[in-house]
Amino acid sequence: MKIGVLKETRPNEKRVAVTPKIAKDLKDKGFDILVEKDAGLASAFDNTAYEQAGAKIVSKDAIFKDSDVVVKINQLDDDEIDQLQNGQVVISMVYHRLQPELVKKIAAKGVSLFSMDAIPRISRAQNMDVLSSQSNLAGYKAVILGADQMTKIFPLMMTAAGTITPAKVLIYGVGVAGLQAIATAKRLGAVVEATDVRPETKEQAESLGAKFISVENDSDDVSEGGYAKEQTAEFLQKQKEAVNKSLFDADLVVTTALVQGAKAPVLIKEDQIKQMKRGAVIVDMAVEKGGNVELSEPDKTVEKYGVTIIGKTNLPSTLATNASELYGKNLYNFITFMADKDHFHYDMDEEITKNTLLAKDGKVLIQE
Ligand code: NAI
Repeated sequence: MKIGVLKETRPNEKRVAVTPKIAKDLKDKGFDILVEKDAGLASAFDNTAYEQAGAKIVSKDAIFKDSDVVVKINQLDDDEIDQLQNGQVVISMVYHRLQPELVKKIAAKGVSLFSMDAIPRISRAQNMDVLSSQSNLAGYKAVILGADQMTKIFPLMMTAAGTITPAKVLIYGVGVAGLQAIATAKRLGAVVEATDVRPETKEQAESLGAKFISVENDSDDVSEGGYAKEQTAEFLQKQKEAVNKSLFDADLVVTTALVQGAKAPVLIKEDQIKQMKRGAVIVDMAVEKGGNVELSEPDKTVEKYGVTIIGKTNLPSTLATNASELYGKNLYNFITFMADKDHFHYDMDEEITKNTLLAKDGKVLIQE
């Protein structure tokens, strides 16, 4: 089969779905690789590197004309959907729960559609899990962005001119991004606190050296398939009371809380921001999903009541080389699991297939 790698079209997207190394690995498995011209440039992989790996550099039209499988990181745009050919297989992130219409529109072209963001949270699928590989990098970058806006350093420093006390960092949400944010802030020397609704995250946060702020929850039913569920207003009020003391004392706050298939929970409201320390910084990693912070704005850094609030979207793209390497490896593991060089297996009883195959030969299988 021929795999066609598209250049990303989302504004400011620097990643690419397949790196030259992955192109070579797929080639070794018997696939032919077509890469849209300049697809890797923004992540520091030039056309020559792909050619040296055995891939062919072609136009976008040629990708759609000649590929059996079309791969991209972000969803196909309208022009690309128009160009799809009957019988092709498309693999990208789709976020189908947020946009069921998109699945219908792509399926209507007579294609099969796999969604990389729908990989189940099971051990054997870990090496295909793009949400984890990208969130991990994003968690690191959130702390670095926050540090850059702070007027303080992270570590304790004893100097002849006096002692500087370490920065206080607070992390909301101890998933993949939150854990990496804790690790990064600790490595830089901060004192770190963290909170989450899933009780099992206490031990994980503590193992990285953070102090965990537990919030009593009357419900045992806080998560499903590794993902947190939406919490009640009473719980969110309790959480506010438990965490406020640390929030008002923090120099940097990173919020990562997400709920699958729903808007992100609002965890920091305007009245809380008013009470934070002047000069504090908040990085709202959930800004694209509605935001954990009431006053954050997508792709803007705003100052409110003396607090700087960073709402940068698509953090993995700011680390495009590493993010593409990891996405590419996830995609390689996915493709070589789902297919051999001649065809896809479509084992409809298998869990990864059931979760990710949104449409098959034009028929919608999963929409929401
Ligand atoms: P996520 O991105 O969906 O959410 C981030 C964090 O926010 C989660 O820890 C969640 O519990 C927390 N959160 C949600 N609502 C909150 C609230 N109101 N207040 C405070 N925190 C809140 O989570 P992510 O990073 O995708 O990871 C979810 C889980 O899945 C983790 O336990 C992770 O270890 C597990 N996982 C398992 C994998 C596997 O076995 N293949 C792969 C990746 C993750």
